[in-house]
Amino acid sequence: MTAEVSDIEKAAGVLRRGGLVALPTETVYGLGANAEDPAAVARIFQVKGRPPSHPLIVHIGGAEHLDDWVQDVPATARLLAERFWPGPLTLVLRRGPRVPLEATGGLETVAVRVPDHPVALALLSAFGGGITAPSANRFASVSPTTADHVRTELGDGVDFVLDGGSCEVGVESTIVDATGDAPSILRPGGVTREELEVVLGCSLAAPSTSRVRVPGQHPSHYAPGARVVLVEPEKLVAEAELAQERGHRVGVFLPASFADAEVKVHAVAALPASMADYARGLYGFLRELDQQDCDLIVASLPVEEGLGVAIANRLRRAAGPRATV
Ligand code: TXA
Ligand code: MG
Repeated sequence: MTAEVSDIEKAAGVLRRGGLVALPTETVYGLGANAEDPAAVARIFQVKGRPPSHPLIVHIGGAEHLDDWVQDVPATARLLAERFWPGPLTLVLRRGPRVPLEATGGLETVAVRVPDHPVALALLSAFGGGITAPSANRFASVSPTTADHVRTELGDGVDFVLDGGSCEVGVESTIVDATGDAPSILRPGGVTREELEVVLGCSLAAPSTSRVRVPGQHPSHYAPGARVVLVEPEKLVAEAELAQERGHRVGVFLPASFADAEVKVHAVAALPASMADYARGLYGFLRELDQQDCDLIVASLPVEEGLGVAIANRLRRAAGPRATV
């Protein structure tokens, strides 16, 4: 089911009245509020159960609106905006006066992006302002890629859910610190490092997974209910079966190259061969294994190039120590 024009108008009205709207984007569903309404922004944190120090992304309708929200935009940031918007790229820039500190967790920078989804763009156009939206999941849990995921997870916490079908990209946007002349990747996502480097004409540092770089990049994030363990690909089947024998209800992420393997475990998520399909399905696979009541998910990291970098980042975080903040 995809949202109709009347739904867009209704959602824009909810935002104007200070309510929360779940909206589809090409990456994951967002939990949106009027970016200029501090009380509505505060409600996002409450509904998500997210610490207020974690900054949000402001979604805008087009690159031509960038200067309404930020200041001191370097030429490289303009180039990236022109080339990748609408699309899964978020630029961190110096905050303009229109952005309340509630949305940035008190930071003097703000994250901005133009989502590449017809329903999100229609809402931004009907609403006319900026929409702050984190992923529409409870804090530290798996991001939603369908409207049903949002309804299941947030229930009455959200005033209106716009249904735009399944998200095409499936992992969150790539976040780039574009405040200086030498941009750096803060979170790998739907736009790959290789794509950014082609446009910039220089190489970017690989995103580090070893430490918390910015508020909101907690080592445990994107975690399903089941515990996730990562093993070397050649040990995947043996480790999964051993855990099952020891009494776990094991779900295994089975790469396409293992398609013929018979794995004696509780449930199997058969991974697609293409990284784009894997990214699109990733959060759905984690949710499915949870629903099948697995208590342990055994997976291997994909090759870390292209979209494999973002997938590996989310799997590491899903396997990381659980968030306690
Ligand atoms: O694809 C996406 O980016 C999705 C869709 C809904 O747009 N949104 C999303 O939002 O993933 P969220 O809140 O789950 O993650 C945004 C992250 C924060 O956790 C934080 O790490 C980073 O963006 N961020 C936001 N503002 C920042 C800032 N001023 N400086 C550095 N990092 C920032
Ligand atoms: Mg999130």
